[in-house]
Amino acid sequence: MKQGHKGAILITGVAGFIGSQLADNFLAKGREVFGVDNFCRGTEKNLASARRSPNFKFFEIDLSVESSVMGKLAPALRGKAIAEAWHMAANSDIPAGVSDPRVDLRDTLMTTFNTLLLMRELAIPNMAFASTSAVYGENPELLKESTGPLLPISNYGAMKLAAEGLISSAVESYLKRAFIYRFPNVLGPRLTHGIIFDFLNKLKINPHELEVLGDGTQQKPYLHTSDLIEAMLFIRDKSKERVNLYNIGPEDGGATVAEIAKAVLDGVKSKAAVRYTGGDRGWVGDVPKFRYSVKKLADLGWRTPSTSLEVVRRTVSEVTAGA
Ligand SMILES: NC(=O)c1ccc[n+]([C@@H]2O[C@H](COP(=O)([O-])OP(=O)(O)OC[C@H]3O[C@@H](n4cnc5c(N)ncnc54)[C@H](O)[C@@H]3O)[C@@H](O)[C@H]2O)c1
Repeated sequence: MKQGHKGAILITGVAGFIGSQLADNFLAKGREVFGVDNFCRGTEKNLASARRSPNFKFFEIDLSVESSVMGKLAPALRGKAIAEAWHMAANSDIPAGVSDPRVDLRDTLMTTFNTLLLMRELAIPNMAFASTSAVYGENPELLKESTGPLLPISNYGAMKLAAEGLISSAVESYLKRAFIYRFPNVLGPRLTHGIIFDFLNKLKINPHELEVLGDGTQQKPYLHTSDLIEAMLFIRDKSKERVNLYNIGPEDGGATVAEIAKAVLDGVKSKAAVRYTGGDRGWVGDVPKFRYSVKKLADLGWRTPSTSLEVVRRTVSEVTAGA
């Protein structure tokens, strides 16, 4: 079987922001998609388009619970010729994992552990994993895939790093290949969390004032979901290692929080006053600035068409238009 073009696809976290758009992408190409989520953050609304396809089948399962994965999901998927598992399920809320460290252990690490158990049981050969820039911790260097030591400053980053380790060791024993994608900040329609989601919700509650965490100078790279998905598929098709590790992101230095606040206010035509809470970061575990090298991906032949600020503006208009 030629990888990438035949066989069914398993997507965990399919009701989430990125997982649901990934499902739509595969379904539009005529692939059969099995989606799993427990709706702890994902929504039924995100699945509306996938649900219209006869090639989509959904399982409401908590992937952190081994007995559910092996007792319910494994029997339901047995014999389905699944070629790739795209593991998008995780806790996506860094502050939630600071308030309660069990959240990342459960929803990021244990979901990875159990997804790997399932893959071993069903002989699913290829794993694609949503990792993150947060594995690098707070490091002023240009962050390359070879940068180390990796010392995350959030439980979120720590559990993603541990999950990367589980996946690379699974390749040594039973997986054929793995794709570990280190995402920057991702924006686009169907947001379930993050800066634009928060700003728009705050403006609904108080249209006169926008509270912004930190001093506004935090600066990070942003990528649109459509470009992220294109990049992941490109890497899956072109990169030939057994463990394929890639930073994915734009080539610019990122957008600042102050620029994002202005883009949101402009986008909704609001004259609200901006109030900064102060300090160099938004929350414990927030990496306020990082510089991301995407040279390895550019050398493979993929570059994003948009700057971080263009992605911010596009997302504001998509989200406010109800996309
Ligand atoms: N959005 C970003 O900026 C960003 C950046 C870096 C990495 N990532 C990673 O990309 C992936 C997708 O992120 P997203 O932004 O779509 O987040 P999201 O929260 O919208 O999606 C994650 C999905 O996983 C589901 N989930 C969580 N725990 C589960 C469990 N125990 N069992 C079953 N389902 C469970 C949630 O309900 C949700 O639908 C995540 O792994 C995230 O860590 C996202």
